[in-house]
This record gives sequence, C-alpha cells and structure tokens, in this order.
Amino acid sequence: MSKRFYITTAIDYVNGQPHLGHAYEKIIADVIARARRSLGQEVFFLTGLDEHGQKVQQAAQAEKKNPQEYCDALAADWQAFAKKLELTNDDFVRTTQPRHKEFVQATLAKLNAAGHFYKASYTGFYSTKEETFLTEKDRLPDGKFDASYGEVVELKEDNYYFKLGAHQQWLIDYIEANPDFISPSYRRNEVLGFLKNNTLEDLCISRPLARLNWGIPLPFDPEFVTYVWFDALVNYASIAAAHPMLGLWPADIHVIGKDIVKFHAVYWPIMLKAMGLPLPKQILVHGWWQKDGAKISKSTGNVVDPITVINEWGLDAFRFYVLRELDIGPDGNWTDEGFASRYDSELAKKLGNLLNRVLSMLKSYRKGIVPARHDELAADAAKAADETRALFKQSQLQSALQSIWGLVNRANKFVDETAPFKLAKDPAQAQRLDEVLYNLAETCRVLAVLLWPFLPGTATKIYAQLGLQGSPDKLDAATWGGLQVGHAIGEPAPLFPRKDV
Ligand code: MSP
Repeated sequence: MSKRFYITTAIDYVNGQPHLGHAYEKIIADVIARARRSLGQEVFFLTGLDEHGQKVQQAAQAEKKNPQEYCDALAADWQAFAKKLELTNDDFVRTTQPRHKEFVQATLAKLNAAGHFYKASYTGFYSTKEETFLTEKDRLPDGKFDASYGEVVELKEDNYYFKLGAHQQWLIDYIEANPDFISPSYRRNEVLGFLKNNTLEDLCISRPLARLNWGIPLPFDPEFVTYVWFDALVNYASIAAAHPMLGLWPADIHVIGKDIVKFHAVYWPIMLKAMGLPLPKQILVHGWWQKDGAKISKSTGNVVDPITVINEWGLDAFRFYVLRELDIGPDGNWTDEGFASRYDSELAKKLGNLLNRVLSMLKSYRKGIVPARHDELAADAAKAADETRALFKQSQLQSALQSIWGLVNRANKFVDETAPFKLAKDPAQAQRLDEVLYNLAETCRVLAVLLWPFLPGTATKIYAQLGLQGSPDKLDAATWGGLQVGHAIGEPAPLFPRKDV
C-alpha cells in the first residue's frame, strides 16, 4: 500500500473569529486534498487550532474567562467554520488535547535527554504580541522597534534554549539539494539568503511560569511552560502519531502563510532532525490578502467576513474567487467589485449559462434524451483534463482553473458556431443537432469532474442535472464518452442565480 498523502494547514490562534486569510489557507489545502483524492490517492488532511501562549491567555483574560473555557467556546465556532467551508479534513487538532500535550512532553524529554537543550539567563527585550525576543539588530534606524511588535518590554529571566549551531549547514545543503522543499522558489531563496548571511541564534523553547502559565509544562522543569511555537509546530507530528496505522509521517505538504516561513523552514526541520524524523516533502507558502489595497484589520474595520460572503453568494463562489483571483505565492487584494464581476462573468454567464442552455436544448429538442456519441470536442476536453491532472500534481490551482475555463469558453464558442437553435428549425439538420448536443452535454459532464475539487457543490449539481448518480469525484471519470445514448437527463436549474448589482 502506498503512503497516504498527508497535507496540513497552519493551526490558527484562537484569539478571535476566523477571517478571509484563515479561510483562504484552509480552502487551498482542501482543494489540494480533494484533487489528490480525485487522482486516486489516499489522503489525510489536518487542520486545527493553536490554543496556548500569551496571545490566547490575554484574550481570555480580556473576557474574564479561564483560558480553557475561552478556547472551548471559540473552538466550537472554528469547527463550525471548517464545516461551513466544506473542508474535508480528516482530523481537527487542538493543542490543548491530551494526545498532543503528551506527545510534546515526550518530545521535549527525549531532546533534553539527548543534550539538545541548556538553561541560561537572558536580559533583553521582549515583544508579547509576537511572543518573541528582540535584539539590538531588530531596532529601526530611529532606535524604536517596529510597530508590528506591539509593546516591547525589557526583561531578565532564565530559560531553556535549543542549540541550533550544529544544524545550520546541513539545513542549507538540504534546501539546496531539494528545490521543491520550499515553494514558491522566491520563498526558498529568502530562506537560503537568511541562513547563509546570519548565524542562527539558539531558540528559546520555554517561558517561565511566573510570566505565562497557559502552556504545556516542561517535563524536566515544572517552573516553565513550553514556548508556544515549539508546542504548535509539533502538532503535525503528534497527530500523525495519533493515527499509527495510517503511516502519515513525513507530511507531503504544509500549507502556510508567508509570515511564518522561518518557523516552518528553519526551526521545524531542525526539530525534526533532532527528533530523528524525516523532513516534510514541501512547505507551500501563500501570500496575504488585503482588502481595497489596505491591511485587513479589525480595529480599522477593513475586513471581509467569509461567513457573510458565503451566506450572500454561496460557498462555491467564495472558494472560486479566492483561488481564481490569487495564485499561491503573491499577495492579493480583495475588492467587492472584483468578486461580483467574477461571479457574474465567469460563474453565472460562462459556466452557469452553458449548462443551462445545453440542458434546456436537450429537453426541448430531444425530450431530455442523450443522442449518440460524437467526438468533436473530445480533444478539447482531453486537453483540459490532461492539463488539470498535471497541474493538480503541482498544486497549481489558479492555472488549473484557467485551463478548465478554457474548456468552458470552447464550449460556449461551439454553441455560437453551430447555432443549435437554428439547426432545430430545420428537420434536415437533425443529425447535426444530435452531434452538437452530445458534444455539449458530454463537455458539461467532464467539466463537473474537473471542477469537483474546487466547487464540490456545483460539480455535484451538474451531475444531478445531467441525471447522473454519485459525485464526480474521480478524475478518471473525465475520460470522454461517459454519457450513454438514451440516457435521460435531470431537471435544469440555474447554478449561479444572477444578482442585481
Ligand atoms: N498559530 C500560528 C501558526 C502555527 S502553525 C504550527 C499562526 N496563527 S494565525 O492565526 O496568526 O495565522 C494562521 C494562518 O493564517 C497563517 O498561515 C497566516 O499566514 C494566515 N493568515 C493570517 N492573515 C492572513 C491574511 N490576511 N491573508 C492570508 N493569510 C493570512 O500564525
């Protein structure tokens, strides 16, 4: 049996409600997971929540709740959100679960026994917001620390450190020898540049209880809890270990945002090496969304609420927009006009109208019965299917959508060229009308199969309207010729109702 394809997302801090950025990342991972299943692979898709640390502790305090109660209440919202996005995740990790905490403690005990840690005293600056220590190097030219660090305090404290010095060179060599390890390549180059031009400082892996108690206690010193990033990164391995029969590790893809590359491409590989585990195959880094050209921020009210958008426009329209608008890598910009325009032109007019016209014509000209097979569009459909298959294997989701819409456009053009509504008026053209209708109906069927990972609801509706059983969830079904002569189609209904905007 081949190993399961194991894909993860970053686990989100539970200090508020999910927003566009969180939704985007989870949809990327879900589409890749579905695409791999469609290719016939067995998949395990993990997402979840990062519940420890100062950010969460402070958010709980602000609501006068104990941190566990606070996390439990919010975790329910985030799990409902995963459902709302129709994520096909196989597990949902919460870092406060015993299965995770026990694994983190066992890992810490093992690394400590192997001599990877030492205790030392530190005097310096600390950003609570980013939960990170700062040095003189982090100061701006004017002597201040960047506003993104929030309040920076000076402190002196003992902590445990993870020795990183011995790891720097093999990591550089590894990244150079494995060009796909960090994708896109410009993120890889950034990591290499960083590793080649800086000496890695040892990583502080503890926080004193006196300052932070919302964390996993160090197994070898009860005066300390585990640094939240050490705790959080381990989730990918702790949950793999929780399903020992599935042989999940190493992960195939960690999907993450551009702000947390250093944790995933520097600290995590070093932690794994020390743990004696193989490295993940790929760290896939997406960009950040803005709205109307400005940072998404609750305090300024510049936000996109995914739930509001989904309730108004439908889930598939939301999934489509974020993946069609933005390739995995660069930053993107959400505008309500851009969203409405893609909905109207690409979903309602091009895809929705195509299906509706084809099914309505089959109903009125052929009583809803599929005519004999004809292969005029077979090569176009095969091209789109081959491209989609190859692009799925590369996680090139935007390009796959472009290829699929190439087939949508071809089919719409075919309607214009062949003018079936004219053919229908001339009994001498009955044979030609049969050919045209078969090509169009079969193209719609193939489209459902190609679209399934992106727009599962829509793809399922297309199948149902074509009168087909089951769901179009296997790419092999995109092979031309699936519709059989004499098959009775179902009832046409608009896929994307037109909006008055
Ligand atoms: N808890 C850490 C991750 C630990 S992973 C072991 C964390 N959480 S987060 O909630 O701040 O961010 C979760 C993910 O959402 C990150 O990958 C981050 O890049 C992504 N995004 C947060 N805001 C975003 C946008 N505006 N746009 C796109 N993605 C964004 O970091």
